[in-house]
Amino acid sequence: MKGKFSKYLSKEEWLITDKGWSKDELSVKESLFTLGNGYIGSRGIYEEIPDGTEPGTYIAGVYDAAASMVPELVNAPNPIDFRIIVEGEKLDIGRMDILESERILDLGKGLLVRKTLFSDTKGRRFLYQSLRFFSLRDKRIGAMQICLKALDKPARIIIQDTVDDSVTNIGSILEGRKRHTQLVDVSPIRDMNYLCVKTFTRKIWLAYTSFLAVARAGGHPVGTLNKIFNMLLKKGEMACFTKIFSIHTSKDFSARRLKKIAIKELHRAKELGFDGLLKRHIAAWQRKWEAREVKIDGDREAQKALCFNIYHLLISGKEGDDNVSIGARTLSGNGYHGHIFWDTEIFILPFFIYADPKIARNLLMYRFHRLNEARRIAGEKGYKGVLFPWESADTGKETTPAYSKHLDGSIIEIHTMDMEHHIVSDVAYGVCHYFSATGDNEFMLKAGLEILFETARFWASRATYNKKTKKFEIKKVIGPDEFHEDVNNNAYTNRMAAWNLYKTKEFYKYFDKKYPRFLRKIERKISLKSEEIEQWAHIADRIKIPFSKSKGIIEEFDGYLRKKDVLLKTLNHYFMPVLPADISLKDVGKTQIVKQADIIMLMYLLPEEFTKDIRLKSYLYYVKRTLHKSSLSPSIYSILACEVGDVTRGYLYFLFSLYADLKNRYGNTREGIHAASLGGTWQAVIMGFSGFRNMEGLPSFEPRLPGHWRNIKFCLKWKNSLLRISVSNKKIKFFAASKRKKGSILVKCFNSVYKVPFNKNYIIYKK
Ligand code: BGC
Repeated sequence: MKGKFSKYLSKEEWLITDKGWSKDELSVKESLFTLGNGYIGSRGIYEEIPDGTEPGTYIAGVYDAAASMVPELVNAPNPIDFRIIVEGEKLDIGRMDILESERILDLGKGLLVRKTLFSDTKGRRFLYQSLRFFSLRDKRIGAMQICLKALDKPARIIIQDTVDDSVTNIGSILEGRKRHTQLVDVSPIRDMNYLCVKTFTRKIWLAYTSFLAVARAGGHPVGTLNKIFNMLLKKGEMACFTKIFSIHTSKDFSARRLKKIAIKELHRAKELGFDGLLKRHIAAWQRKWEAREVKIDGDREAQKALCFNIYHLLISGKEGDDNVSIGARTLSGNGYHGHIFWDTEIFILPFFIYADPKIARNLLMYRFHRLNEARRIAGEKGYKGVLFPWESADTGKETTPAYSKHLDGSIIEIHTMDMEHHIVSDVAYGVCHYFSATGDNEFMLKAGLEILFETARFWASRATYNKKTKKFEIKKVIGPDEFHEDVNNNAYTNRMAAWNLYKTKEFYKYFDKKYPRFLRKIERKISLKSEEIEQWAHIADRIKIPFSKSKGIIEEFDGYLRKKDVLLKTLNHYFMPVLPADISLKDVGKTQIVKQADIIMLMYLLPEEFTKDIRLKSYLYYVKRTLHKSSLSPSIYSILACEVGDVTRGYLYFLFSLYADLKNRYGNTREGIHAASLGGTWQAVIMGFSGFRNMEGLPSFEPRLPGHWRNIKFCLKWKNSLLRISVSNKKIKFFAASKRKKGSILVKCFNSVYKVPFNKNYIIYKK
């Protein structure tokens, strides 16, 4: 793109370009082009708000329950609302003739840049250019610049600039549009406009200040308080409008002081000016990408798409706040009401563990701060310990809606909140994963151990003993495969529960030796008895795992193999299976068709627990029966495919996951970016192709790159060092950066253990 803002743009490899315009793709593109900084997410809307636009401004942790079935992420007032009327006609991409249009999302710098050439009904041309960002450095500040040139004739223009507080949440099924805020204050203050709204039920105040300056034909910008004003644009003259705004909430500051703080902050931002803010923002992005970039040599397209996935992860992780988590659709849309699922601990957390461990810790602390609510949920159902809600929002209460839209559009009742209990061990798994990569004892003593003890307690009370078989069983559950509800002994649930139990015992022993005094404190706090720990091991050893001897595979749950066997033979042109025409979604539960990785998920998470033979046979069995109707599935299959030597298929699954949103593969990107798919895609590259595993605290690599990939370069934060790694099928290069001058780190590569010295290049060759 050539134009006023092109000088700010990164190199082509960082740019996602959208040429032209299509109404049908409007809301999908809005999700894709979301800007954000962890604190706030703002959908990539066109500033003039064409018909069909779905503005979305989401602030991490700001939920409300007014007029909706369940609390949901609030669509906050929209600061990106700027309309221009030329000679009576609205400059609108959906209404005027468009001679040329292009938008660019700069992944490297977090910028959204646009250039549109409009032509009005009389054929007069107007060149419109804009740039905007939500500062990564000054998190509560956003800024945009819009420049307009009348190319053919002088034009009278009317400007309307606002922070739109009439936005609503989109009700995806039964509820219709919902409004979550009411007006508290709207007033001009010196040269700024102030707007404050309050959410209906949680009473969170959201305060906006904004400042608009107009510069004509290269002259100095002059501030204006007017929200609507006229001007005459000469032929060839360019007018530029600069808007700087701030967003503060009473979650971070007392409601009483909010106005003062917001004004002060905007004042400071104004002094830095658009260019100053932009410079700080870009520098912050450069620091952000440092050590978080993944480079694929040999696949430029995949490289860029991967960068897009990582960008969306980066803008969804909030720094310095241990009371918020990441919802299934990040801060980019209304999907799933902004709720938090197991997606966070199993799909998203691993990225942050190795890229930004402080954010990973915060994500786990979010669960810790809600343990009391999880205790209450367990207690109400007659269990001990904690039962995390299947869907969680701000309070930690169960927020799963009673109804939802099925894949075919029909409305169905939801039972996940009553039965999808594997969330408990998923959180525990997240805790252990975090600890084994960071060695963060302080976290474990403060929060991690308590989470583990309470989750183990839950399973000990959830499992029932079958005297006949002498096994413990877990009945009436839904496993990750949500096509099969109310099943007994789902292998994923049971094996993860057993793992949760014995792992917790191991941690107990480890911390008992290292920090006995601290451990006693936790024991007292939650009245933990030593008999309980013994009981955990006893149950763990005896939990039933359905297994088919004749097939040599793990059976998904009791009776799964007796269901109608349907092989998914037809593939679409992305090589993904399609549901046979004679099977309706309503009946899918009567068959062996699986919604998403379930047994395969288990084998990925606990690789040491299954023999090679069982893994291969199970993969070959389930691969033919899994429909991948959840974005949580293809990435995990990709990894397992690599592990069993099916790299070609692993690559196809990877591609599907990689483009899940960029190409709207699930048809619902409009509702926001699929967070789990972002994290799963990262895992497919790092854990799948480079074969990285955290084997009980030992970083291990078993590369199996697709044929056309020369190498993958990436970094992993590992305890107190940063591993810079370049992996190819024949060799692995390390640079283990550490503050310790001497010393080394042990790594496992190609099945042997090596000592990699700190701060030196070190190459390991495949023998
Ligand atoms: C999947 C769940 C997932 C949820 C949110 C569902 O379709 O089956 O595993 O947690 O979406 O992403």
